[in-house]
Amino acid sequence: MLLLFYLYLCNIGLYFLFLFLFVKRLQQQTNQSRATEMATMAAANLSPAPVATEFGSSTSTRSFLKPLLFMVNSPLFRKFAAKVRESPTIATFETILETALNENEPKAKEQVLACPICYDTLIWNGDPVFSVDSTPRSTLKCNICKKSYSGNETHLDLTVASGTKKYGEYMPASSELFRLPIVSFLYERGWRQAFSIWGGYPGPQKEYEMMKEYLNPVIGGSIIDASCGSGMFSRLFQKSRLFSLVVALDYSDTMLKQCYDFIKQEENISNENLILVKADIARLPFASSSIDAVHAGAALHCWPSPSSGVAEINRILRPGGVFVATTFIVDGPYSYIPFLSPIREILGQISGSRIFLSDRELKDLCITCGLVDVTCVRNRRFVMISARKPA
Ligand SMILES: C[S@@+](CC[C@H](N)C(=O)[O-])C[C@H]1O[C@@H](n2cnc3c(N)ncnc32)[C@H](O)[C@@H]1O
Repeated sequence: MLLLFYLYLCNIGLYFLFLFLFVKRLQQQTNQSRATEMATMAAANLSPAPVATEFGSSTSTRSFLKPLLFMVNSPLFRKFAAKVRESPTIATFETILETALNENEPKAKEQVLACPICYDTLIWNGDPVFSVDSTPRSTLKCNICKKSYSGNETHLDLTVASGTKKYGEYMPASSELFRLPIVSFLYERGWRQAFSIWGGYPGPQKEYEMMKEYLNPVIGGSIIDASCGSGMFSRLFQKSRLFSLVVALDYSDTMLKQCYDFIKQEENISNENLILVKADIARLPFASSSIDAVHAGAALHCWPSPSSGVAEINRILRPGGVFVATTFIVDGPYSYIPFLSPIREILGQISGSRIFLSDRELKDLCITCGLVDVTCVRNRRFVMISARKPA
């Protein structure tokens, strides 16, 4: 009975609250139109029609709403409205409304980078400057965790473990391999080219042309080249000038250093609106629904947990945002290898890498992480997968 009575009271409270908000809004709008009218009159050197200061331009409307206004402005009603606003139901309703409004609004560039611990937007020390050259001078702070993140001479370290002195962390072999300086050095000097010979990869330029078709709806927006390696695609994205922000992101410091050196060596590449970020794919330092596109070339099979990576990508993509990735699929004649499934499990546990056995597996991965419109294009072991965050 008590609960029913409480709910009944809440409902009455809701009606009053909406009435209060409606009247306030009406008041604001009328004041605004009054201001516009005054400005127009002033411009035309005319004097406005006489009206009461409290509300509206028409005397009849005013007299009609006067008792209502008196009621909503009374201290008793204000107190009551404040109490209703504090109720958990209203608070949840307001949060949902706010989230829905925020999600549909494009985020300003300075609101894109977020703390990898709590995902709250990071505050720049000074003006946010998105440029390769600004990273050594950049310090970003999380107002909630009170943690600072700073850049070194090549990139911003936005990993959770950034700044630790004694504590070190190791990834599985498939990630650690790419942190070796020799691998970063060799990556664009033969390693990547070998993917075309035994994997059917068309090569960076052709892959770039292929993915542009999927990226068309997000041209002009921001793009993250996730697990960029030495940055062959980050450079192509930046040189195309099709994106307002390019983030070259990888977990390997040595790859990012190589990426920085290649950018510096190229002549026709702008440093503006391009940043290099160290981050773990399973803990992306970006605000939710803030990014237009994510590309991940030849990387899904290297991630310790592809589902955590794709789920994170879904989180940071804005509704309608695009994910495009390439990887290997071991099927066709390879599917006749006996005990292929248990073999891949053992290999996966040892190396931390993932061997995909079919397109369906990849599509399922994207769908299970909440993405839609999944497509696959194949060439022997090579696959390009694209998907979209629901609008
Ligand atoms: C084969 S390379 C791909 C480089 C480039 N995208 C390409 O298309 O050639 C795989 C990259 O994934 C990165 N990687 C591995 N584990 C990662 C993780 N947990 N988070 C972010 N990147 C990771 C490695 O550092 C490496 O640079």
